[in-house]
Amino acid sequence: MSIQPIGIFDSGVGGTSIWKEIHALLPYENSIYLADSINAPYGPKGKDKIIALSIKNTEFLLEKNCKLIAVACNTASTNAITLLRKKYSVPFIGIEPAIKPAALNTKTKAIGILATKGTLTSALFHNTSNLYSNGITIIEQIGEGIVQLIESGKLGSTEMETLLKSYLKPMLEANIDYLVLGCTHYPYLIPMLTKLLPKHVKIIDSGLAVAKQTQSVLEQHQLLNIETVKPRNAFYINLKTTEVMQSLLGQKSEVDYLEF
Ligand code: DGL
Repeated sequence: MSIQPIGIFDSGVGGTSIWKEIHALLPYENSIYLADSINAPYGPKGKDKIIALSIKNTEFLLEKNCKLIAVACNTASTNAITLLRKKYSVPFIGIEPAIKPAALNTKTKAIGILATKGTLTSALFHNTSNLYSNGITIIEQIGEGIVQLIESGKLGSTEMETLLKSYLKPMLEANIDYLVLGCTHYPYLIPMLTKLLPKHVKIIDSGLAVAKQTQSVLEQHQLLNIETVKPRNAFYINLKTTEVMQSLLGQKSEVDYLEF
């Protein structure tokens, strides 16, 4: 049993959507969140660069004595998690687009996936997508520009609405009934997406599944914190993103922001 923190990293502020789910399920766990906003977006970068940044983030969290690392970034997970698991001995939790539930439940036999270029071009994504694509049309869409708008506090802007409308158009033309969100920044778009999508289109993201997986891996390794005192949640930022994070987290913030 361990009071060591859970480490979580993302290319920026989006992985807080995963931190929220983990914190809700495991409220007594200490946590360290690393937002690498200075290097965001990861999506357009090549695999080698994404791996190098993932290693740097992992080593930062390991130096801070984290007992498990949740890679709260689809782009980093789909490109780097196999290597990270080989290289380091701590358990890793990854995230990838939840194609399976969408593919198994679609009635219109068409599903949409919104993710970064890095995720959609990864071998891991291709393998999963091939497993479930039988008899189904999968409309893949790169969410070019979305991460940058969220990072700069323009979540609810008209620019964002225009961008989303253009990305949803081919999906709606293909009559999708599921939209899979394949980037941890995107759950924050759900209010806007709900407005733009017809009622029968369901939106799926992987946040809760990641939190449950974190809980079960901590249990397996006997690493859960059994103390029930208020935890310390430290958020490391390398750009001035405190306000953006606070507005995304929508709470009086039980979080300390630290620059690195
Ligand atoms: N949150 C990251 C993801 O889940 C965003 C990647 C990016 O920075 O482009 O893919």
